Amino acid sequence: MTDLSKSPMPVLSATGLMKSFGGVKAVNDASIEVAQGSITGLIGPNGAGKTTLFNLLSNFIEPDQGRVLFDGEPIERLRPYQIAQRGMTRTFQVARVLSRLSVMDNMLLAAQQQTGEKFWSTWFLPGRIAQEERDARDRALEILESVGLAAKANDYAGALSGGQRKLLEISRALMTRPKLILLDEPAAGVNPTLIKQICEYITYWNRQGLTFLVIEHNMDVIMSICDRVWVLAEGKNLAEGTPTEIQTNSQVLEAYLGK
Ligand SMILES: Nc1ncnc2c1ncn2[C@@H]1O[C@H](COP(=O)(O)OP(=O)(O)OP(=O)(O)O)[C@@H](O)[C@H]1O
Ligand SMILES: [Mg+2]
Repeated sequence: MTDLSKSPMPVLSATGLMKSFGGVKAVNDASIEVAQGSITGLIGPNGAGKTTLFNLLSNFIEPDQGRVLFDGEPIERLRPYQIAQRGMTRTFQVARVLSRLSVMDNMLLAAQQQTGEKFWSTWFLPGRIAQEERDARDRALEILESVGLAAKANDYAGALSGGQRKLLEISRALMTRPKLILLDEPAAGVNPTLIKQICEYITYWNRQGLTFLVIEHNMDVIMSICDRVWVLAEGKNLAEGTPTEIQTNSQVLEAYLGK
């Protein structure tokens, strides 16, 4: 965890976000701020709009209204890969690893997808491409080693356990050296030992300078890694504060208990 008083500038801030699907107001005037260097949590009951908010923040879907600033710049008009190039990546609630590719190829593909198309450069600059590929492979191996997946680099990703797939997805997000990673339920379906490890990796990467926004239902994870927590209920902001403040907030409790 980081001392936020040293760096008050938010790396990500969104205001007035709205998104309806038919008659359902999935996100209904929600705002969020992620301080540079923080691990920020996003919690709320099932269907609160957390994943939709992630989709809006990373431009996987277009907001009906609202504004998103990343590093102080509006990003509404950028494609997800352009946002990734600027330093924001995300993972998905259901890990999107490609089962029939090897673990290593999943890592390399992520790097390639996020740097955009390089069609012409493969013709005109083959030497440079080969060097870039070697660098990407080295980086992939370094990341896989740091999370204990190096021995599985040549296995099919489909042969990994659910928890290892989540870990592969987070590892993949690191390939482009992001500043900010959005994690959608990194602990869901993961065994307790691996959850503990994932928390340790997140805090380790955070100490290396990486900022996180984490959706999670597992309150132990939220309590142990987050600096601040935002609570969403029925598409709206319900509360924001330190994990301890949120844990003792009666409105939050009511939202979870469905009163
Ligand atoms: N593509 C979509 N089409 C229609 N409705 C959607 C779509 N995506 C989300 N919704 C609806 O929007 C609301 C918010 O869903 P969302 O997935 O954002 O919630 P969540 O907070 O991530 O929930 P969970 O904790 O269960 O993952 C829900 O009512 C959901 O059914
Ligand atoms: Mg969700």
